[in-house]
Amino acid sequence: MNWPGKAECFKTIQTPSLATLRPCPEESVNFDTTENLIIEGDNLEDLKLLQKSYLGKVKMIYIDPPYNTGNDFIYPDNYTESLQTYLEYTGQIDAAGRKFGTNTEADGRFHSKWLNMMYPRLYLARNLLHEDGVVFVSIDEREFTGLRTLMNEIFGEECFVTAITVLCNPKGRSQDKYFATNHEYVVAYSKQPLSKGHFSIEKHEDQVAAEYTEEDERGRFRLLELRNTHREFGRHNRKNLYYPFFVDDEGTVSLEPDETSTKVLPDWDDGFEGCWTRDRAKAARDIEFVVAQQVKGRWKMYRKSYASGAERMLKTIFLDKRYYTERGQKAFNQLFNTKAKIFQSPKSPYLLMDLMRTCTTSDDLILDFFAGSGTAAHATLEVNRQDSGNRKFILVQLPEPCDQESAAYRAGLKTIADICAERVRRVIKKLNDEDAGKLDMDSGERPDRGFRVFKLAESNFTTWDAQVPHEEGTLLAQLEKHVTHIRDGRTADDILYELLLKAVSR
Ligand SMILES: C[S@@+](CC[C@H](N)C(=O)[O-])C[C@H]1O[C@@H](n2cnc3c(N)ncnc32)[C@H](O)[C@@H]1O
Repeated sequence: MNWPGKAECFKTIQTPSLATLRPCPEESVNFDTTENLIIEGDNLEDLKLLQKSYLGKVKMIYIDPPYNTGNDFIYPDNYTESLQTYLEYTGQIDAAGRKFGTNTEADGRFHSKWLNMMYPRLYLARNLLHEDGVVFVSIDEREFTGLRTLMNEIFGEECFVTAITVLCNPKGRSQDKYFATNHEYVVAYSKQPLSKGHFSIEKHEDQVAAEYTEEDERGRFRLLELRNTHREFGRHNRKNLYYPFFVDDEGTVSLEPDETSTKVLPDWDDGFEGCWTRDRAKAARDIEFVVAQQVKGRWKMYRKSYASGAERMLKTIFLDKRYYTERGQKAFNQLFNTKAKIFQSPKSPYLLMDLMRTCTTSDDLILDFFAGSGTAAHATLEVNRQDSGNRKFILVQLPEPCDQESAAYRAGLKTIADICAERVRRVIKKLNDEDAGKLDMDSGERPDRGFRVFKLAESNFTTWDAQVPHEEGTLLAQLEKHVTHIRDGRTADDILYELLLKAVSR
């Protein structure tokens, strides 16, 4: 696939960052002990800065990027001076004094702009993924095809996992032209092809109780038919799966005949010669789990399937009400104890929790670099609470300004990054309150309920500006700037973190 600006994407990827991340202990929670991060800044610069320390460390990336609705702000990357763009952006006007605007459909490069924004970010994000890592991207029909094509290019078609359809808005979008859209997608790719069943999750207790109705000394089990129920398989094409069992009057099963036993073959009632689901050697190894039962006067063979460790494969259509966008709004509003939309349409934390259950455990690292209101952190903290895990999160969010007339601004939250950090503070407080008395929050065993805030800024070290003409006065001024090459106002901690970030690969 080609589009205007694709070549610049590679330059953008390769241009090193001249930025740093400045620690903000005063906006953090448990700064000294936590490993969770909330980074305020443009995610392109931040992904570059994370390359060294987090290369191959992230188990799951979830992102919910702008869907390119025609009303979204699409960050204007400029590969030669992307940090400069950010500094201008945080002043909210560009170098020519123009306001940063939205990507409208009338723009001739509407789709290209979105692709140019996504390509370098997804490319750099892939480097951070662990070998078993997975990325989930929420998207709707507008950029679904563009996203799939981009991801096929970056991750490889063989790493496509699935495209889940999520029923998110049962009423449908009334403003649509032809059909009232009531779903969106979560597209998933892995860093490398994963084994079958990788995303299966443990069966729910209720499902176990309903399905595994029998019990022996090993626990709850159910009987599964041993004969292959698909008629396209049989003795004619699966010779190794066609052999007899022998069952005595008591129902004891053997692979060897004796005088009183009955021979049982995987034949169908109409005489079709079918086959078993396992070969003779495997049947011999597991003979204690093979059961014979009389059905209509004939022996039928089954195998015991135990509930312990039983998993289920998720289906590709997510219909659960907990995934509705309104549930996301409710979860957010409850934290802020408001009906006002401080943040519009956050994702449902239950959706993210269920995605996390498919591919992360214990202390895996989760990254969301379009964090919005911080749903990914909310879900991480909640899922850890449910399974006593210790997953960590890294969130990145642009300090996109909130409209001065908005509920967020009135609540003292000036940017979306402020909303994000405040939400996570509230989640932590809620969970700690709920666990008061249950968990020893001062013990070394306590879950990591904190986060460090970092903010994107120019490097602590001034850089030699090669563009400045080497005239006498300007050269002298440049030299004087480098007498001490630490930028004014920077602290020892600022410098320490920059050195750790840029030099160390843990
Ligand atoms: C659709 S929202 C994400 C919502 C989030 N999933 C939630 O549940 O709250 C996308 C977010 O990405 C942010 N964003 C857009 N461009 C960005 C960039 N270049 N760097 C960091 N964040 C960016 C926007 O400010 C917006 O809040």
